[in-house]
Amino acid sequence: SVHDDLVVISNRQPYRHRYDDDGDVVTDRPVGGLTAGLDPVVQRVDGTWVAWGDGDADAETVDENDCVRVPPDDPAYTLRRVWLDEEAVEGYYYGFSNRVLWPLSHGLVGTMEYRDEHWQQYREVNETFAEAVAERAGERSLVWFQDYHFALAPRHVRERVDGPTLMQFWHIPWPDWDTFRTCPAREAILHGLLANDLLSFHIPRYCENFLDCVAGCFEDATVDEQTGEIHRDGETTRVRAFPMGVDVDRIEREAAACTEAEWAEFTAAIGVDPEATLSVGVDRLDYTKGIPERLAALERFFEEHPEWRGELTHVQKLSESRSRIPAYGDVADRVAEAIERVNGRFGTDDWQPVVRLDSHLSAHQLYGLYRNADIALVSPVRDGMNLVAKEYVAAQTADPGVLLLGELAGAQKELGEFALPVEPYDTAGFADRIGEALTMSERERRERMANLRAAVAANDIEHWMDDIFGEAREVRRTRGR
Ligand code: G6P
Repeated sequence: SVHDDLVVISNRQPYRHRYDDDGDVVTDRPVGGLTAGLDPVVQRVDGTWVAWGDGDADAETVDENDCVRVPPDDPAYTLRRVWLDEEAVEGYYYGFSNRVLWPLSHGLVGTMEYRDEHWQQYREVNETFAEAVAERAGERSLVWFQDYHFALAPRHVRERVDGPTLMQFWHIPWPDWDTFRTCPAREAILHGLLANDLLSFHIPRYCENFLDCVAGCFEDATVDEQTGEIHRDGETTRVRAFPMGVDVDRIEREAAACTEAEWAEFTAAIGVDPEATLSVGVDRLDYTKGIPERLAALERFFEEHPEWRGELTHVQKLSESRSRIPAYGDVADRVAEAIERVNGRFGTDDWQPVVRLDSHLSAHQLYGLYRNADIALVSPVRDGMNLVAKEYVAAQTADPGVLLLGELAGAQKELGEFALPVEPYDTAGFADRIGEALTMSERERRERMANLRAAVAANDIEHWMDDIFGEAREVRRTRGR
């Protein structure tokens, strides 16, 4: 290999240490496809992972260099924790990352809240991370930044370390130039990202938008739309699309391992008739996920189809997220109201149209739920990729269900042809699609699901990694010439 070692940087850490109720130190793993997907790769190559130590027992478990070997029960690589004080968390994480870059990248300019002091913290935290990277990276390292929390860190690393290959994966959409230019920090962000040798997104559209933004912002940049290369100030950045996948083998295994007894116990615990027709939704409680819109469509569906009352149950798993931010509190309220309204209107003593789950599900429960669900409602108003859609498909090892997929999810690109498309804001149309999915012939269901499964398997998490690392080697070789 042309690289000696790997340094991965993400905001969320793959393993967190915290105290349980008895005061014992326990490990937990944060939700989200990003950390779960990368962990096996870093395990394989024994690299370093740099991330925010946000657990209350994190400081106690590291050595004098702020490092700890993980996974805790079978150490395979080094986790280097970075400490953030309350002001940094507020400004960098809750502030600029999640009140500016998150809504901006999703095209929701009206939700953006820019403050200079947040931007200041974001800049400082990016430097702090870059310093931690510089301690561990050398000339032959491959340094891989994850996501929108680190738009500036690559530039700082470039200034501090000679020769490493720098790359970044932006896991959320990239907006068009007219949207992006509303951000006061636009120049600094692009300048930071262009320190990468390779910058990747999920789909070509986001790459095109990024190239447009660079061309719009910098007169001295040469942007080649054909090759996806940007030249500026003697530097070259390649921009490429690599659609992220899921761990298909693992999901199939977990789904198949959910026994009938386990399933019966689980459905009894959540008050669902195991024989009922099941719809499933699994989301972080985020305003980009289109959850109130989905509930409105379900409400319309039950209004128009009394024959499905008592028959169809929608199980909605929600994970609380970034709830300190007002826009997240608002969407949480809207979701709670909508569920109350639908259940109030149509629910009976022995049936609730919507069953809300807030607590953690085991892998067997989650993938068993996916496997047994007759339809899945994945209807974000905008989403970089949406791995829930792919997880549902991967778990469909039994009687095939139907995937309803929002038109503005990145996953549309690969799955759109075989999923039923939904427009989250078109309540009536969405309700019709639910009816269509529930009455689809077995033959059509089989055919669609077989195609979906082939698409998901053809581009699983391992392919994604191989493609990106292959490209990184290629970049390194070209640079060496
Ligand atoms: C999205 C982002 C990830 C993030 C995850 C969970 O998928 O792309 O970077 O980790 O959401 O959000 P959180 O703010 O809890 O890390």
